[in-house]
Formats: sequence, structure tokens, C-alpha cells
Amino acid sequence: MTLTFEEQSSDLYSSPYLVDYYDLVAPNSRSVDDASFYWEVYQKLFALRSPTPEDPFVILDVGTGTGRVLHGLESNAINSECVDNAQHMLDKAEMITTGILKNCVSWVHGSALNLREVMDARKHQKVDLLIFSIGSISHLYESGQPEEFLNQASKVLRPRTGRAYVSIYDGSLLNPNKKIAFHQPQGVSELKSAVFASIVYRESDHRGELEGNVKFLKFELEVVDSDNQSVVETNHISMKMRQWLDDELILLSSETDACFVESVRGAHETFYVFKAIETGSE
Ligand SMILES: C[S@@+](CC[C@H](N)C(=O)[O-])C[C@H]1O[C@@H](n2cnc3c(N)ncnc32)[C@H](O)[C@@H]1O
Repeated sequence: MTLTFEEQSSDLYSSPYLVDYYDLVAPNSRSVDDASFYWEVYQKLFALRSPTPEDPFVILDVGTGTGRVLHGLESNAINSECVDNAQHMLDKAEMITTGILKNCVSWVHGSALNLREVMDARKHQKVDLLIFSIGSISHLYESGQPEEFLNQASKVLRPRTGRAYVSIYDGSLLNPNKKIAFHQPQGVSELKSAVFASIVYRESDHRGELEGNVKFLKFELEVVDSDNQSVVETNHISMKMRQWLDDELILLSSETDACFVESVRGAHETFYVFKAIETGSE
């Protein structure tokens, strides 16, 4: 066996192979079925004002990944800014984007904690619909980060009508009465790449620990060329994900410039809806 020439400790988003693996194992639009929900929200918000070519309806998809949510919208000729802090995810998103969406979507490298800067550099700066999908806010595990995200969101939302839809995934709920279940496949499991010929992904040694409200997820992921069994890349996956108490986000938001509007139950998640606090000067 030829030994590895790439060995890294990483999250799931930091190489083209990892992006491919993520798309194989992550919830997809069929399993989550949030696209129809966001499409309805879009139609409802669109009806609240009369967008013009000079001042179009703008979607900001935060933590867009490979663009799953945008690609899933029923009609996608919507001016969309798609932000992620993982360039490899954005590269794949751009590569798989076709048709009319190509002309109205921008794939922007940036942080959920710096949305003001992201939008300041865009042509249309006010956001009608901000989406932070499938529990991705759990990536903001450091103390104060979810609050900073909400502050940033309220800076870029269109006053009065703009809305942020923030998903908390059921699987990331802390319930002191229940044992937390971790997804820990036994032994070694193997998955065939959908993109790279002859590549398989071997995952093993799943570990999960909970420390306070942070879940530590670790496993080993080898990228193997099945033609000659050589290891192309070895990844020591290590991720920290924030866990939540029921409706904790509402409580946190009371310390921010985001104003809680409502929560909506989805099949596997709760969508928390926020608008910018009205200052009276708008
Ligand atoms: C679970 S994936 C969700 C991808 C996509 N939105 C979806 O629904 O399929 C989370 C994404 O959030 C991105 N992410 C994590 N922390 C971020 C941050 N601070 N700012 C921007 N994006 C972030 C990751 O790179 C990853 O692409």
C-alpha cells in the first residue's frame, strides 16, 4: 500500500474530497425537505413589497455549503448571495450551478459573523430573506457567537419586511433527561465517490463527547484509490457543534438587535424567525 501524501486534521469542508464526502453523507433536500418550506416563505415575503430591477428581492444564504438550498428552490431566478467560510464548498457550488441561477447567484467567501462586511461589498445590500439552514448555526459553538450572528443579521436585513430564518436541528437539542445519541457506525464503513473515479471513502473510529453544550465529533476518514488501494488523503475529522436547550435561541436573541417573530416546526428542525429591531429612524 502506498502511504498517504496528505494528512490533516480538519472539519468536513476543507478539501475537494471532503466536500464530495459531505455531499454523500449530509442530509439532502429529499431527506430534509426544507426547499418547499423556503419557497413558500419566499413567496410570502415577496408579496410584502414590490421589488424592482433596481431594488430586487435578495436572498442571503449563510453557510450555503454546496448550494443545496438555493438549488432546491422551485424557481431560482432570485438574486442570491451565498456565503460560506469554506472555499472548497463554494468552488463545488459554483461548478454544479447551471441555467438561469448562474446569472443571479454570487458565491461569496465570508463569515456568518461578518455579514455586514459581506453585504457592504454587494450591489444590492438589503436582505429580504436570510437563511441559515439545517442547524448550521451549531457551527457557532463559541460563547457569544450566535448572538454576534444575530446582530450581524439584523444589520443586513431590510428594515420592517426582511426576515432571517434560522434552523435548529432536532438532533442538536440538549435534553438533560435523555442520553445523547451519537451517530457512531461500528467498525469501518466504506462509501464510493460520486464524483471521483475509483475513489472510495473509508470512515472509522467514530467518537463523540459532550462537554457542556458543545458536542465533539471525531472520526478518521481515508480517501482511497480503489484501483491500487493507495491512500490518497488521510483526514482526522474533528468538529465542535453547539447543542441547544429548547427555544434557547429566543432567549439569546433578547440580548441582540434581532427581534424574535415566531418559530415554525419543520419535519426535523425548528425554524426561528427574526427581523431587525425597529429604531424609528427608518
Ligand atoms: C451543515 S453545512 C450546510 C450546508 C447547506 N447550507 C445545506 O443546507 O446543505 C454547514 C455549512 O456552514 C459553513 N460554515 C460553518 N461555519 C461558518 C461561518 N462561521 N461562516 C460561514 N459559513 C460557515 C460550513 O463551511 C458548511 O458549508
